[in-house]
Amino acid sequence: MSTATAEAAVQLIGIGKAFAGVQALRDVSLTASAGAVTGLVGENGAGKTTLLKILAGVYKPDRGRIALGGVPASFNDPAAAQAAGIAIIHQEVNVLPHLSVAENIYLSHLPRRGPFVDWPRLRDDCAAVLDNLRVKLDPETPVGELSLARQQMVEIARAIAQHARILAMDEPTASLSSEEVAILFSTIRQLTAEGVTVIFVSHRLEEVFEIADPIAVLRDGQMVGTMPRAQATTERVIELMVGRPIDRQFPKEVAEVGPVVLEVEHLSTEQLLRDVSLTVHRGEVVGLAGLVGAGRTELARAIFGVDRLSAGSIRIQGREVRIGSPADAIRLGIGFVPEDRKRSGLLLRFPLYANHTLPSLRRFVRSGRVVKRLETSAFQRWTKELSIHARDALEEARDLSGGNQQKVVLAKWLELSPQLLILDEPTRGIDVGAKVEIYDIMNRLVKSGTAILMISSDLPEVLGMSDRIVVMHEGRITGEFARGAAREQVMEAAIA
Ligand SMILES: Nc1ncnc2c1ncn2[C@@H]1O[C@H](COP(=O)(O)OP(=O)(O)O)[C@@H](O)[C@H]1O
Ligand SMILES: [Mg+2]
Repeated sequence: MSTATAEAAVQLIGIGKAFAGVQALRDVSLTASAGAVTGLVGENGAGKTTLLKILAGVYKPDRGRIALGGVPASFNDPAAAQAAGIAIIHQEVNVLPHLSVAENIYLSHLPRRGPFVDWPRLRDDCAAVLDNLRVKLDPETPVGELSLARQQMVEIARAIAQHARILAMDEPTASLSSEEVAILFSTIRQLTAEGVTVIFVSHRLEEVFEIADPIAVLRDGQMVGTMPRAQATTERVIELMVGRPIDRQFPKEVAEVGPVVLEVEHLSTEQLLRDVSLTVHRGEVVGLAGLVGAGRTELARAIFGVDRLSAGSIRIQGREVRIGSPADAIRLGIGFVPEDRKRSGLLLRFPLYANHTLPSLRRFVRSGRVVKRLETSAFQRWTKELSIHARDALEEARDLSGGNQQKVVLAKWLELSPQLLILDEPTRGIDVGAKVEIYDIMNRLVKSGTAILMISSDLPEVLGMSDRIVVMHEGRITGEFARGAAREQVMEAAIA
């Protein structure tokens, strides 16, 4: 749908907003049409959430105007925005877990009969709204028992029950599986078909390209481009988001492949893995693809000595080894960057230098004591090497952005010069610019002879950064492909 002809349901004009010295938005304008999904993308901190919160009456803008259907509007609080037909689905799910689906949907205006809630009517109204959204949910289920995706559906149903005509969604797919994303998208399509105006915020470009038209790009609080979907290419949007040309989204450099470093043979575990065999060579990136739950992380844990093997063997550089614990794995030159960097990759409240030296602490001991000065200077060396943006080595890990946190996790393993590095979802939740930097680090590592086993659910990343691709499904290996494999082949093996 072209924005020129469609009704401009929402206009944000020249919006400015500062928080205690931070200029979050500067002269930002955005138009969203009825019946369309307007995509809003930008790196972390670009100002997307702030803009939505201004539309929703959560923040008052310092400058600028809002118009709805061409008529000036101004909201002093969220209730005023809601009364004007605006609903926002916030980044964090916002439900009352102990209340039922029906109560959550009608929270602000429960149907009453005299002083009492009219339960039969509440159930009927709720069933009608859910039916209309084609969502199968029992109105009486406590919301806390539902999956995140379904809790989010309850929020959308709440917006519809409040007759919202403008629905702004802030990173709604952040914690959804791909099946759940598909359900959400069909709901969004149905809403726009009924004339609802949707503003869809995300930093996952693939999804924005699938659902949104037009696409607007924010960078550092400024609107740097708006274009119809048909004119948006990944390269162009990324370049606008990052503010510098990214020659390639996946800057893979093929290194010289040497002898086998890791050789897994007929490995099984009690839990899930069945007869898994695979090799990773010096200078090679092996991408491990598959759906969530296929057993990829389990395989990494078995290799790293977290889970016990029930059958099979592991060889490191041709020598059979028994890895009974992560400490054994580390001694054998294996590093492991886990999937969940905030839970198991980093000690968030610890200073960076302490995170850095955790697996290599012995090296910093002199006369029986850990020497902090050596630790901080080791960490500082890596901040230069990997361009880690941090105040200093004493800063707490939690204060860094996702991309910088991931570089800290990488640095801590690189300190040990591992022969084999296992990366589990190395760029999940990281900005595009920082992603490319992590790919560059991978390139440098394989060039210096490291073997990398990269688990990733991001298929373009697996295809773009692997020398070889191994696919798992339900604990088994179901396919192996050389670099250059087609997306469909890999997908097929993943669901086979
Ligand atoms: N309540 C707040 N107080 C202070 N600074 C804020 C607040 N909300 C956002 N910011 C700052 O404003 C900028 C934009 O943030 P945000 O809108 O959350 O970006 P995005 O949603 O695109 O990641 C960031 O620099 C952020 O730190
Ligand atoms: Mg945000």
